[in-house]
Amino acid sequence: MKKLTPLAIVGAGGFGREVAWLAEEINQETPTFDFVGFIDDEASSTPEGYPVLGNTDRWISDGRTDVRLVCALGDAVTRWKVATRLSQGGFSFATLIHPTVKRSRHVRIAPGGMICADNILTTNIDIGAHALLNLDCTVGHDSRLADYVSMMPGVHISGDVTTDIGAYFGTGAVAINGVRIGAWSVIGAGAVVSSDVPRGMIAVGVPAKPIKPNARAPHEDAA
Ligand SMILES: CC(C)(COP(=O)(O)OP(=O)(O)OC[C@H]1O[C@@H](n2cnc3c(N)ncnc32)[C@H](O)[C@@H]1OP(=O)(O)O)[C@@H](O)C(=O)NCCC(=O)NCCS
Repeated sequence: MKKLTPLAIVGAGGFGREVAWLAEEINQETPTFDFVGFIDDEASSTPEGYPVLGNTDRWISDGRTDVRLVCALGDAVTRWKVATRLSQGGFSFATLIHPTVKRSRHVRIAPGGMICADNILTTNIDIGAHALLNLDCTVGHDSRLADYVSMMPGVHISGDVTTDIGAYFGTGAVAINGVRIGAWSVIGAGAVVSSDVPRGMIAVGVPAKPIKPNARAPHEDAA
């Protein structure tokens, strides 16, 4: 039998616990991961009774680099900060793809990706590191989604869409073909992006219009 990969999930919040279920679903199809527990800076238990192994500082000082990690933190900026620290601490990351995900062999997904149930990704697509594709999203041909892209449930990305690092799409947002979403921009739930969104903005509505800067966006020289 294939050796299972030890896996710890960073973040025991709502999405982190959904990722624990994602790992269980993958294991049901093909035994792949030995889920050892959560790493969390605040929680010491979960409603489901999963083990919580301690905080990130403790994990880094213990140096358990034999365990693969996924950063299941819904907020793209927090995910970037935590994953960067862990990567500098010598940790490597797993990629979790639900067995129901449909994708061609021309889809490339970088390490740290969490691709939940019922996503469809067509052809010639690049998904950057630590991507979060929540339930039931679609991504069209030739799209280039950079590291830390975050798609909440039911997001639809048409063909030829580009996102820069850390772009976040709220539930049910849509991007029409050919648009570019700048780094660390946030697209509100239900928005329709029909023209480019600049770096570090929050855009809402149909068609989506920038309403204010994303105060949490890292400075240009940070990422
Ligand atoms: C866009 C968003 C990030 C803005 O959050 P915020 O910075 O706290 O902004 P506010 O709530 O102060 O709203 C600012 C204005 O935008 C409007 N607005 C907020 N979100 C909106 C949306 N999705 N669509 C349309 N208008 C929206 C508000 O009504 C408010 O309008 P007003 O100034 O006329 O009163 C947030 O509302 C959103 O949509 N987040 C996505 C959440 C999500 O999908 N979570 C998934 C979890 S699985």
